[in-house]
Amino acid sequence: MSLQNFLSALDSLKSEAIATLDSATDADAFEAARVKYAGQKKGALKDVQKQMGSVAAEDRKSAGMRFNEVKQAIEAALADAQARLTGGGESGADPTFDPTLPGVRPMIGHIHPITQTINHLTEIMGRMGFEAAEGPEVEDPHHNFVALNIPEDHPARDPLDNFYLATAATGDSKQNVEGTRLLRSQTSTVQIRVMAQRQPPIRVISLGRVYRPDDPDATHFPMFHQMEGLLVDKHVTMANLKTVLRVFATNYLGGDVEIRFRPSFFPFTEPSVEVDFLWDGTWIEFGGAGMVDPNVFRAVGYDPEEVSGFAFGLGVERLCMRRHGIKDIRDLYSGDMRFLSQF
Ligand code: DAH
Repeated sequence: MSLQNFLSALDSLKSEAIATLDSATDADAFEAARVKYAGQKKGALKDVQKQMGSVAAEDRKSAGMRFNEVKQAIEAALADAQARLTGGGESGADPTFDPTLPGVRPMIGHIHPITQTINHLTEIMGRMGFEAAEGPEVEDPHHNFVALNIPEDHPARDPLDNFYLATAATGDSKQNVEGTRLLRSQTSTVQIRVMAQRQPPIRVISLGRVYRPDDPDATHFPMFHQMEGLLVDKHVTMANLKTVLRVFATNYLGGDVEIRFRPSFFPFTEPSVEVDFLWDGTWIEFGGAGMVDPNVFRAVGYDPEEVSGFAFGLGVERLCMRRHGIKDIRDLYSGDMRFLSQF
């Protein structure tokens, strides 16, 4: 046998034996491997050793040296496997066990899928120059309705569609009295808060919770999240709106996402549209948008002859659910680790 062949037989024996011993999970598997590779009579090591006699005399020294190395490596793997399977060998002491460490290994948590989505959306919009702004979840009717051009008799202000809070004065939840507060029903409130404090140009998004008294089902929950967007500058058009939303959807959902506007109505935009994305062959509605209504600009002291802008509001749960194939919004808020730990 040539030296070359002998050495390569040794090499494959070594890797096969070590792999088998490393993957042995019980005493029977260990014993079978021990007999197969290191058995005194018919073991594979013995077989190879016998073949050494057929290696040319001048190569025998190197052959012998390599044989010893392989034999030692297999013996070491046998010892390791035995220690592992018998819980640390004869003394029973496990060298990896440190009795001074605290006893319970803590479960490592991770960020909730909705928070992950919020971070992701913020990052995508940030690349287009949109800065994240925040507003309170307990709002007054001025920011939730009045400044957004939603008049007092508008159905969106109905107590049945909002969580009005009991006021200190009356101990009652009254809709249109001084000091009325409600849980915001939309993140459009943040448009007003930002514009009231700054001058154009403005490019902001606001992501956060909103509340509506809906009965929970697969697509509704009384608390959910929206991403509001607002851009105000000179000469802003709907083409700008469409481009921003398309770039956003393409980044978040992946592929080249088509976008479609359908005529609609919102009190704070004129014209208003529903926004659909074509994703995986189906058109899905993700929210509303439009050009900021002149009345909204007037409410914050901007001159609608001077500036124009667009706004949009998208459902965060809807985006997250689409991207991850989640079928029921309630799963996001059940606190069930079997569900949450998949994200
Ligand atoms: N606030 C709307 C809602 O809650 C969503 C929306 C529609 C936001 C149009 C906008 C917009 O900024 O322009 O349904």
